[in-house]
Amino acid sequence: MSNHLENFSQTAQSGSTYVLAPLPYADNALEPVISAHTLSFHYGKHHKAYVDNLNKLVADTVFAGQSLEKIITATAGQADKAGIFNNAAQVWNHMFYWHSLSPKGGGEPPTALKQKIEASFGSVDACKKEFANAAVTQFGSGWAWLVQEGDKLAIAKTSNADSPLTKNIRPLLTIDVWEHAYYLDYQNRRPDYVNTILDKLINWEFAAANLS
Ligand code: FE2
Repeated sequence: MSNHLENFSQTAQSGSTYVLAPLPYADNALEPVISAHTLSFHYGKHHKAYVDNLNKLVADTVFAGQSLEKIITATAGQADKAGIFNNAAQVWNHMFYWHSLSPKGGGEPPTALKQKIEASFGSVDACKKEFANAAVTQFGSGWAWLVQEGDKLAIAKTSNADSPLTKNIRPLLTIDVWEHAYYLDYQNRRPDYVNTILDKLINWEFAAANLS
């Protein structure tokens, strides 16, 4: 990964210790789409637990102090490193998710991104529809992604902590579809959560900054 993504993920480290990077907005900034109640639990309990677990798991190992990306790619698919992989990837995925949302999100993508979306999907609406479909059909816990592969944009979905980084594919945006992301606000209505995010909060500016 290079430029914007690299700078972004450095916010999770302070020397050899991983830190809970600050939310890019207040707890209540995403209301009414995502309540302050959901956000405070999701960030302050779930995301924080992944950071705390990662610090415990990598202490006194070769991974201590390495970048999250290095840990994620080095441990992916290795059964004896699953704990380190899961926690490192979840720290990264959650940071990426917070930045994928914005109180000023939704609307039209910036021109350069919009052109790439239209070239790959036909229209912004078709891109959103495919994105929503991936998020809704991900069976169980996981993530839906807008990614860049070469000149093309595509939609992907991953299970549990997995991420496109393990396949050397560049993420542009993500939506968390673990139940903890939406159950307090939407109960079992995952499609409502996903579609409302795509209409009101999705941060096209962040996606544009992540283009290579
Ligand atoms: Fe989550």
